[in-house]
Amino acid sequence: MSDSRPIGIFDSGVGGLTVLDAIRRELPGEDLVYLGDTARVPYGTRSARVVARYSWNNACFLRDQNIKLLVVACNTATAMALPLLHERLGLPVLGVIEPGVRMAVELIPEGPLAVIGTRGAMGGGAYNRVLEQVQPGRALTSIPCPLFVPLAEEGLTSGILAAEAVRLYLEPLRGHVRGVILGCTHYPLLKAEISSFLGPEVVLVDSSTAVAGETARLLARSGLAAGPGKGGERYFVTDAPGAFQVVGQRFLGRAIAGPELVDIQPLNYPGGES
Ligand code: DGL
Repeated sequence: MSDSRPIGIFDSGVGGLTVLDAIRRELPGEDLVYLGDTARVPYGTRSARVVARYSWNNACFLRDQNIKLLVVACNTATAMALPLLHERLGLPVLGVIEPGVRMAVELIPEGPLAVIGTRGAMGGGAYNRVLEQVQPGRALTSIPCPLFVPLAEEGLTSGILAAEAVRLYLEPLRGHVRGVILGCTHYPLLKAEISSFLGPEVVLVDSSTAVAGETARLLARSGLAAGPGKGGERYFVTDAPGAFQVVGQRFLGRAIAGPELVDIQPLNYPGGES
């Protein structure tokens, strides 16, 4: 039994490409459909109600592309919309928070641990709730770093601006943590700056490989894996395909074949008042 339908992946912008890249390495034969909601990025500064509505719209758009599984490649959307998507989408859905937390606990079983992410993802306590389930009683310091997403979207991931932003937010962690969860899929793009500021002894946990592993396991146990395939990719964005292509290509290290511009209609939101 094999299932040749694509895997759907969405993020607010280019950040989720870090997850797409990990899934591609883990599952070279699967077709992937990526949606970057570039018209509405950033998500991390918006309310839970708005992010849940955007996430629902994105998920429905990808469901219309006949996907077999949805990967929410965005911590903010995972924190704010995962239960709704699990309940209402009618497809298997994976988020990025739980795989990231499990990986962190495995890599850094003790000692001071921190998570950095958007205001939205840090504000609602989603990371603390998941960590409490995975390793009860473990303390976690959360730090929102709102300037990291625009820096990544602009491709400004090294140099003076990136270094200053890293210093601004992460000074309180320097010398005081053993590991930091990169709780935003845009942040691996700033990994080199973060690591050079915090020091090589601090483990940076990028959830993308854990998410890719979880995707492979879910496909295998549900009989949804594709047979030998070409590993096709299709990219959609809600605005500025040219900028997405340039910045995304730099991060992926390979060409992004013509991102298609789409309008996502805010229809049939099932999560209450929209
Ligand atoms: N990449 C996203 C995340 O993981 C969202 C960034 C944003 O749009 O603010 O949270």
